[in-house]
Amino acid sequence: MASTPNTDHLDQEKQHAARAAMRWVRDGMLVGLGTGSTAAHFITQLGEKVRAGELRIQGTATSLASENLARQVGIPLVEPRRGLRFDLTVDGADELDPQLNLIKGGGGALLREKIIATASDYMLVVADSSKAVAQLGKFPLPLEVVPFALPWVLDAVAALGGNPVVRMDRQDPSKQVLSDQKNQLVDCHFGQLNDVQKLASQLITIPGIVEHGLFLGIAKAALVVREDRVEVLRAGVEPQLASDFTELP
Ligand code: 5RP
Repeated sequence: MASTPNTDHLDQEKQHAARAAMRWVRDGMLVGLGTGSTAAHFITQLGEKVRAGELRIQGTATSLASENLARQVGIPLVEPRRGLRFDLTVDGADELDPQLNLIKGGGGALLREKIIATASDYMLVVADSSKAVAQLGKFPLPLEVVPFALPWVLDAVAALGGNPVVRMDRQDPSKQVLSDQKNQLVDCHFGQLNDVQKLASQLITIPGIVEHGLFLGIAKAALVVREDRVEVLRAGVEPQLASDFTELP
C-alpha cells in the first residue's frame, strides 16, 4: 500500500525518537528489544552501532519479527533464563498518558513485551507525536486470549462494556491473527478509560486472558516527538528536551 504524506511524516518521527533513544544505550548493556515500527527503527540503528564496533550489547526480542530483524542487523541475542535482567528495554506504544501508563499490543506482541519490560530496570518508550494522549482509551485495548477460552472471554469482556472484536488478518479477513504463542488477539472498545487500575485487575481475573495491553507504572520514561523536537516525558515531571537530558540509566 502506498504511504500517505502523514504516514511518511509519522515514520520520520518514529525514526527521530528511535535515534534519540541511542543516548540511553551504554556499552555492555543487556537490552530488551521492542516490537512495532518504532522499535524496528531502534533495532536497525542499534545494529548499525554494533556492526561498527561502537557498542557491545546483547539483546532479547519481544517478538519473532524483532528477533529476525535483530539477527539480520547483527545484534547478539540471549535466550530467556532464570535471573536474567535487562538494563534497558526500548519499545513503542499505541497510547501513553501523562502518568506514563500505556496501551500496547497493536502489533500483537503484548505478552512478550510485558514480560521483557517487567524484567527490565528501565523501560524507555519511543513514540511519534500521535501517541501521547490526555487519557487512554481511543486506541482499542488488546488482549491475548487462549483460543479454547475465547467465547467466554468475549462474554466477560462484553459484560464489562468492552465491545470485544477478534483481530482478523488485514490481508485475509477470513483468518484470525495469532500471537507468537499461537493465542488469539482481541481488541476491546471501552472508550475513554477512567480507572485503568480497576480495569486491569478485572481483566486479569478472567480465565483465558493471558495478558492485557495496559502497562501501568512500568515505563520509566518516554521519548515523544513534539513539533519536530524529541521530548523526554516522565510521570509527574515537566517534559525536557531529550538532547539535554542527563538522568540516563
Ligand atoms: C506491539 C506494540 C507496539 O509497540 C505498538 O503497536 C506501537 O507500534 P508502532 O511503533 O508501529 O506505532 O505494542 O505489540
